[in-house]
Amino acid sequence: MTHDVSNGGSSPALENLSVEERRFPPSAEFAAQANVGSEIYAWASADRLGFWAEQARTLLSWQTPFTEVLDWSAAPVARWFGDGRLNACHNAVDRHVEAGRGDRVALHFEGEPGDTRTLTYAELQREVSRAANALVRLGVTTGDRVAIYLPMIPEAVIAMLACARIGAVHSVVFGGFSAEALRSRIDDAGAVLVITADGGFRRGTPSALKPAVDEALGGEQDALGPIDGSGAHTVRHVLVVRRTGADVAWTAGRDVWWHEALEAESDEHEPVWVESEHPLFILYTSGTTGKPKGIFHTTGGYLTQTAYTHLNVFDLKPETDVYWCTADVGWVTGHSYIVYAPLVNGATQVIYEGTPDTPHKGRWWEIVAKYGVTILYTAPTAIRTCMKWGEDIPGQFDLSSLRVLGSVGEPINPEAWMWYRRVIGGERTPVVDTWWQTETGGIMISPLPGVTAAKPGSAQTPLPGIAADVVDEEARPVPNGSGGYLVLTEPWPAMLRGIWGDQQRFVDTYWSRFPGIYFAGDGAKKDADGDIWLLGRVDDVMNISGHRLSTTEIESALVSHPMVAEAAVVGASDETTGQAVVAFVILRAEYRERVDEPGEGADVAATLRAHVAKEIGPIAKPRTILVVQELPKTRSGKIMRRLLRDVAEHRTVGDVTTLADSTVMDLISAGLNQPTGSAD
Ligand code: PRX
Repeated sequence: MTHDVSNGGSSPALENLSVEERRFPPSAEFAAQANVGSEIYAWASADRLGFWAEQARTLLSWQTPFTEVLDWSAAPVARWFGDGRLNACHNAVDRHVEAGRGDRVALHFEGEPGDTRTLTYAELQREVSRAANALVRLGVTTGDRVAIYLPMIPEAVIAMLACARIGAVHSVVFGGFSAEALRSRIDDAGAVLVITADGGFRRGTPSALKPAVDEALGGEQDALGPIDGSGAHTVRHVLVVRRTGADVAWTAGRDVWWHEALEAESDEHEPVWVESEHPLFILYTSGTTGKPKGIFHTTGGYLTQTAYTHLNVFDLKPETDVYWCTADVGWVTGHSYIVYAPLVNGATQVIYEGTPDTPHKGRWWEIVAKYGVTILYTAPTAIRTCMKWGEDIPGQFDLSSLRVLGSVGEPINPEAWMWYRRVIGGERTPVVDTWWQTETGGIMISPLPGVTAAKPGSAQTPLPGIAADVVDEEARPVPNGSGGYLVLTEPWPAMLRGIWGDQQRFVDTYWSRFPGIYFAGDGAKKDADGDIWLLGRVDDVMNISGHRLSTTEIESALVSHPMVAEAAVVGASDETTGQAVVAFVILRAEYRERVDEPGEGADVAATLRAHVAKEIGPIAKPRTILVVQELPKTRSGKIMRRLLRDVAEHRTVGDVTTLADSTVMDLISAGLNQPTGSAD
């Protein structure tokens, strides 16, 4: 039984419905003006490859048109539109100028301190051309890797597009990662250039970035040192954007100011035409081992799927919409739905440098009102934080321009979904819950806002052209009403083409659990209607505020501290951040007494939290650190994280029969009465 509750999220009848019974169909007005109707599903399933070919032809400009759609003969490495040639930056920028749309605003930049900058497509073309010329002058050529470590400023977009323009492969490293994390990513990709800034503004103060680059590159080094492939020595230059004006250390010969380099260049540059399968970027993401995976994406298929999903999932009208995605360019959402898809579609968008609560908790809503934002794409953790702050805050701003709301990064709980639609969307806007991953490149499972009767909390249906299912241990599709593993059963255009430098790991991680089909690592269930509900990760990957972190990576960081003998990390559910990092540590004997002294326990936790921030980045800091005497292990020595999760979530501890020593859990539980430290 289903109920249409589109007349109001707060009607009393709603409370009587189970979560799965709630439906929010689009209004007749919305459906009438939507870019696509329900017929698109039938078209795509009747001729999936023809459907994608048509998207690639109509949404992109090809210098050499393709004749081949999909070559899956070297599975699991796909070739999409393999004999076509194009350039990603030309598609995102130049062709709009050539078509007479140069005066359209591409970016409204809002700095955290309140400074603003507007870039039209014509201005963006000139800036990107200068940057491309500067990269070439610094010796960067097609196929080289460039690391980008920048705050959310227009230069981040320009730097990525400039790489794409010359066929160089960018590897953006989120500005919240530490020098250590940056170094390992630079090394793994063999980057020849780093683009960074003196810093960015966060929470009202300048936050430095350049020192981390200096540290990652090993401090002062000989300029133009040998390029012998040994670690950070592959880096020849560091291009530095001046953002905060803070003093920075300078390595002569290596470091170059961005503004000086660009000023010296022409604002014209001919894009380098590349094959459809030319690598566009590498983006590192956490896996189940300590070593991050360099997920790599190519050009034609990636641009096709991201542009198609952006246009239809958000019902984008490029002439009139003002689109805002609150992600950072350091994550895949920033790559696909800030830099590439919106620009390829010729959209006008807002980018914002800072945090939602600086200088006040209404900052986001003030920005929505100021620019007349019509489409907002954000993460459940942000929505829950705003719920906590209270609805009177958004209530102070005119949010009537909004017409579509999107959610991404983690399961959105029905309460947050309902609040988002009611308080931010004025009970008017469709809400699209979009499931996808760094690996998928673009949105895979989502409602279509003019078609789908939305169910709060469910991502619902694979998009037209996408094949997903929920299967059991033997790869058999589960019946409606049952749960299992989420898989993708057909190749899709924006799919990853591999893990940089480690194709075996690519095959092992995604294609071996169920041979021939892609294993996403997420649990899911199908409801009575066959709609998909995501249930979180089934592996040792945590999702903290929509960011992926690996338990193993944080454990390695903890044991690299001299105090720690052993560590186990779990993700415990958290009301605001979805999951929170909880660490169980065993100290080395010489430090054990310290925790028993008054006040010292908290110090140990603070020290270890700071250490994790240094090793990985502040986002990985455990919320809670518990010092224990033992860890629960199976007889083969595997840590039983399931039991630790029970402890961290204050549940009765589950089945302990496979433990080598079943008294361990009693010890841990007893010790928990005096937790060693919790973050604020
Ligand atoms: O567990 C799923 C969750 O985020 C993971 C992918 O993380 P990442 O590669 O960092 O990309 C995040 C942005 C696309 C997935 O395996 N996830 C992402 N979107 C959703 C989600 N879980 C539930 N619902 C979603 N809409």
